[in-house]
Amino acid sequence: MIKAIAERYSCRAYSDKAVTDEDVAEIVEAGMHAPSGMNVRPWHIVVVRDDKLRAELAKVHQYAGFCAQSPVVFVVCGDEVASDHWWLEDCAAVIENMLLQAADLGLGTCWIGIRGSNERGYDREATVRELLGIPDHIRVSALISCGHPASAGKSKPAGPMENVHHDGW
Ligand SMILES: Cc1cc2nc3c(=O)[nH]c(=O)nc-3n(C[C@H](O)[C@H](O)[C@H](O)COP(=O)(O)O)c2cc1C
Repeated sequence: MIKAIAERYSCRAYSDKAVTDEDVAEIVEAGMHAPSGMNVRPWHIVVVRDDKLRAELAKVHQYAGFCAQSPVVFVVCGDEVASDHWWLEDCAAVIENMLLQAADLGLGTCWIGIRGSNERGYDREATVRELLGIPDHIRVSALISCGHPASAGKSKPAGPMENVHHDGW
């Protein structure tokens, strides 16, 4: 487990090689095994493979451009009505499970934060909702780009270890 965790890295360049339906299903299943507050499981995952939709998702903000290149984009959402307090943490747990499962399958991924508006008031969530027909009460936590890495990537060392405290700060 620690090897899989340590070797994961954010991949932002993808080859043309397709991601199989089996791999997509395993990644989604890994997400659906996440823990959630009160076991509400308020999440939804939209699997986007369509070229035109991915090209539009790539424009959602300036750090999402590679969604046009990755053969799959997972859109991880949370039902704020079902769990107004924990939906965000629940979605984060789903996302990390999916990143790790994809890495285990030899696939590259990148977590692309969507939730909220930017400093100029541009509503990234509304853009994604409108594009994919997501209902208004569903919050959009993140996109996950996914595909075969174009080249070998490098993971970062763990840290900062000085932020680990024992028996108090
Ligand atoms: C909440 C969150 C939002 C992120 N948003 C983006 C993003 O919009 N675009 C991007 O390229 N990377 C994004 N990342 C990836 C981080 O930049 C990356 O995880 C970090 O630099 C550490 O690198 P590593 O994932 O290779 O360990 C995001 C990560 C998190 C957890």
